[in-house]
Parts: sequence; structure tokens; C-alpha cells
Amino acid sequence: MFKILEKKAAAHNVWKYVIAAPDVANKAQPGQFVVLRLHERGERIPISISDWDGDTGTITLIVQAVGHTTRQLAEMNAGDHILDLLGPLGKPAIIEPVGTVACVAGGVGTAIIYPEARRHQEVGNRVLTLVGARSLDHLFYLEELSAISERVMVATDDGSYGHKGFVTDLLRQLVNDGIHLDLVIAVGPIPMMQAVSELTKRHGIKTIVSLNPIMVDGTGMCGACRVRVGDEIRFCCIDGPEFDAHQVDFSSLLRRSHLYERSTDGCKSTGKVEEGCGGQCHK
Ligand code: NAD
Ligand code: FES
Repeated sequence: MFKILEKKAAAHNVWKYVIAAPDVANKAQPGQFVVLRLHERGERIPISISDWDGDTGTITLIVQAVGHTTRQLAEMNAGDHILDLLGPLGKPAIIEPVGTVACVAGGVGTAIIYPEARRHQEVGNRVLTLVGARSLDHLFYLEELSAISERVMVATDDGSYGHKGFVTDLLRQLVNDGIHLDLVIAVGPIPMMQAVSELTKRHGIKTIVSLNPIMVDGTGMCGACRVRVGDEIRFCCIDGPEFDAHQVDFSSLLRRSHLYERSTDGCKSTGKVEEGCGGQCHK
């Protein structure tokens, strides 16, 4: 059992949890995730690790309440316990001195960008952070990102804060201004990562995306998280979640994510709401 020590609102419909998980906290690295199960009849869902503290034995998870289990989690509070929490899973992000790095975050993807941006700054890279969200009340971690970034640029879809438009507008602006980028990291909705990838491919800028597909076991056994990368089928849970953006087949990734959306409306086979069934039973 894993105790929730702290819960607070991070943004609109997004919750920040500090959870006692010493074994995970001691090993976690940027880019990794946990798979959790709230109770014995619960499904298993992957959540990226947004922060950790080996000294206190705690991890921080930022969770958007969008599906069956994440909504159940949103009803839990400090003092409650999560039944299982497996991790850290996935390959850590490869972070080394490269020069100038643009960290591009869309919505909840900001939670994953933060530890990566911080590590880039620690290894001596110049960090430019670009954040996009629907509106001002969907933004979070801006102070934290400002502390480790040379510059933070913000876009909101409705113009309630920063540039009015998508976060990709900000990236295009950087490139058009002639700012040399050695690496771009993008985390967020699939269409956003695809748009970033198309832009940087045209300009020959190495780009990494952190994918967040359906996962079931999280250990490479079920195949739910498969994604085509170049000529190969890779499993996000053990081969990723980070991949070379210019090799990712975003179209098939998007199609599979829509299967997931249908499954949260109710599985076609069982009639139950089964977030994380991976659409396996719909085929
Ligand atoms: P959202 O739909 O609110 O979009 C966030 C921002 O992304 C927008 O404000 C915009 O700036 C940008 N964006 C969206 N669509 C775009 C497009 N077509 N072109 C260019 N930019 C675009 O996002 P949200 O609801 O906060 O995030 C949820 C999504 O993030 C989910 O799809 C989830 O799977 C994904 N996510 C991914 C990870 C990961 O590890 N890769 C982690 C958490 C969440
Ligand atoms: Fe089952 Fe990755 S979640 S193989």
C-alpha cells in the first residue's frame, strides 16, 4: 500500500499527489513512469513520474482526471492509500550536454517536461521552455520551469495568458528568429507532438517525443503499447517511452489512441467502462 501524503489542485481538473514510495523515489530518473492500481478490482494505469525525493522517499504524480480510474483517483485524498504502484518503469531519458535544448510541453505534458528540463539545465545545457495550454487555468509548473530555464514562453489557445495560439507557434517563432536548437523535446497530445516533429524535421533538428499510449501490464508482455518507430514495432513501456520523433508513425499512434477513447465510453465486448483495456477486445 502506498500512502497519499499530499494532494492539491495543480490546474483545472489536474491534481498533484505526493506519495510515499521510497523504492521508486530512490531509483526514479527523468522520463520514467509508474503503473498503479487503486484497488483490487481496479485496472492498471501508467502515470509519468513528475518529481521525486530520495531523502523523503516520496514521488510526485500530476494526474488529469479524464478516465474512469483517474477520476476515481481525483476523489482520493491525503491519508488514502493506493493498492499497487510499480516502478520506476521505462527507459530513462538520455540527457547529456548538447548545447541549446527547447523543451516543448502541451497541457499535462508539462508534468513530464519539468524533470527533463531540470536535468538538462543540471548538465549545462541552455534550456528554452515552451508551454502550451488551453487557457490560463490549465497552466502549471511555470515558476518551477522559470527557475531552471533561460526563457519560458507560454501560449494559450484562448489567449488568456501569453501568445494566443498553439505552443507550436512559439517553436516556429524561435526557429524563424534564427535561434540555433541542438535538441527539441516534445511532450503532450499526439497532434502536438506530430506538429513539432514535422516542423523540426524540415529544419533538421533532432527531436525526442515522450509517448503515452495505452498500457496494460507495463512490462512488455501484452503488446498494448506498441508503436511503429521506423521499420520496427516497439513497445513504449520497455523500449520507450521516448523515441526519435522523426521515426514515429504518428498516424497509427493516433488511431490506436481513438480506440482507447471508445473503450472509456464502454467496452464493446463487455459493456463495462474499461480504461486501459487497450481496445484489445475491439479488434
Ligand atoms: P490539450 O488538448 O489541452 O493541448 C495542450 C496544448 O497542446 C494546446 O494548448 C496546444 O498548445 C498544443 N496542441 C494541441 N493540439 C495541437 C495541434 N494539433 N497542433 C499544435 N499544438 C497543439 O492537452 P491536455 O488535455 O492537457 O493533454 C492531454 C494529452 O497529453 C493526452 O492526449 C495525453 O495522452 C497526453 N499526455 C502525454 C504524456 C506523455 O508522456 N507523452 C503525458 C501526459 C499526457
Ligand atoms: Fe503491455 Fe507495454 S503495456 S507491452
